[in-house]
Amino acid sequence: MNHTILITGGAGFIGSHLTRLFVTKYPDYKIVNLDKLTYAGNLENLKDVENKPNYKFVKGDITDIEFVKKLFEEYKFTGVLHCAAESHVDRSISDPLAFVKTNVLGTVTLLQTAKDFWEDELQGKLFYHISTDEVYGSLGEEGFFTEETSYDPRSPYSASKASSDHFVRAFYHTYKLPVIISNCSNNYGPYHFPEKLIPLCINNILNQKPLPIYGKGENVRDWLFVEDHVKAIDVIFHKGKAGETYNIGGHNEWKNIDIIKELCKQMDEKLGREKGESEKLITFVKDRAGHDMRYAIDATKLKEELGWKPSLQFEEGLSKTIDWYLNNKEWLQHVTTGNYQNYYETQYDKR
Ligand code: NAD
Ligand code: DAU
Repeated sequence: MNHTILITGGAGFIGSHLTRLFVTKYPDYKIVNLDKLTYAGNLENLKDVENKPNYKFVKGDITDIEFVKKLFEEYKFTGVLHCAAESHVDRSISDPLAFVKTNVLGTVTLLQTAKDFWEDELQGKLFYHISTDEVYGSLGEEGFFTEETSYDPRSPYSASKASSDHFVRAFYHTYKLPVIISNCSNNYGPYHFPEKLIPLCINNILNQKPLPIYGKGENVRDWLFVEDHVKAIDVIFHKGKAGETYNIGGHNEWKNIDIIKELCKQMDEKLGREKGESEKLITFVKDRAGHDMRYAIDATKLKEELGWKPSLQFEEGLSKTIDWYLNNKEWLQHVTTGNYQNYYETQYDKR
C-alpha cells in the first residue's frame, strides 16, 4: 500500500537516516518530517533529499496539540515514525523537565491525535515508537536485555523514555491503537551530534583537545551502526506485528576506554600521526551521576521472526564513520559553531 508517513525528529541523528531511507527507498510514499529544530535538529543532515517530490519538511513542536491536529487533517497520515526526543543523558541530568515535556507530553500528544484521527478505520495504520535499551536499566557483567526484561530506568532521560513507552502500550490496550515499539542500543555513524561520546572524541582528536572519559572508562555499551538501526526500523514497520516490542542491538559490546583507544588508533593512521599520539589526549574526568554500568541487547526475536541482523563489523563501521567526519569537516564546523541553525532561514524561510 502507499503510505503517507509522519516522521517526527527527522532532522536529528537517527531521524535523518530514517527519513533518507524512506524517501529514497519508497518514492510512492509521502514523507512529512516534523521537527522543532532544537539544538539537535539540523536540516543540513538532509540536503541530499530536501528537493525530492515525496518529501516535505515542517517546522513545529510535537507538544503543540493544535498544530499536530492540523498536520493530521492536512496530510491524513497512515503511519507515524516517532523519533523526536530529547536524547542526551547528561542534559537530562541538568534539565529533567525538558525531557518530560518532549518525551512524555510530546509522545502522548501524538498518540492522542493519531487515536482521534484513526479511530473510525484502524486498518492499515501504524504508530511506531522509537525507543531505547536504557529503559531496562543497568546490567552487571552477565546477561542481556530481552523484550521481557522489566523496566528499571535510572536517569531522567531513560525515565522519560520508559514513561513514553508505557503510554504507547496503554493506547494499544485501551483504544486498540496499532502500535509497535523498538528499543535499540547505542547508535554511531555519520551526522551524530558531537556531544555524544564517539563524535565528541572524533572532533577532539581532530583538534588535539582532551578526550573526557567518565570515571574509569569501564562502562559498557552495545554499539550499532545507525544505518543498520534504520534498516531494522524499515523491516519492523513493514513486517512487525501491532502490539509487539522488538529489541535492536549490535551484539557488539565495548568498554568506553577500549572504544576510545580503537578510535585513537584508527585516527592516528588516517591522519598520518605518530602511533599512540591521540591516546595521550585521554583524560579521566568526574563520572556521570547515576552512570549505568552496562547495556547489552538480545536481538534474537528480531532475527528469528523478521530476519534482521546487523550488516557491519564494528571496526569497519567505525572506520566509515571517521572517514565521513574527515570528509565533512564543514558539517562539523557548522555544528560546533552553531552556524547550522541559520540553514533553516536561508533554505526554507524564503519559500
Ligand atoms: P537527536 O537528539 O539527534 O534528535 C532528536 C530530534 O528531535 C532533533 O532533530 C530535534 O530537533 C527533534 N525534537 C526535539 N524535541 C522536539 C519537539 N518538541 N518537537 C519536534 N521535534 C523535536 O536524537 P537521536 O539520537 O537521533 O534519537 C532519536 C530517537 O531514537 C530518540 O527517541 C532516542 O530516544 C532514540 N534512540 C537513540 C539512540 C542513540 O544512540 N542515539 C539509541 C536508541 C534509541
Ligand atoms: O543506549 C541507547 C542510548 O545511547 C540512547 O538512548 C541515547 O539517546 C544515546 O545518547 C546513548 O546514551 P549514552 O549515555 O550511552 O551515550 P553517550 O554517548 O552520552 O555516552 C556513551 C558512554 O560514554 C556512556 O557510558 C558515558 C560515556 N561518556 C560520554 C560522554 C559524552 C564519556 O565517558 N565521556 C563523554 O564525554
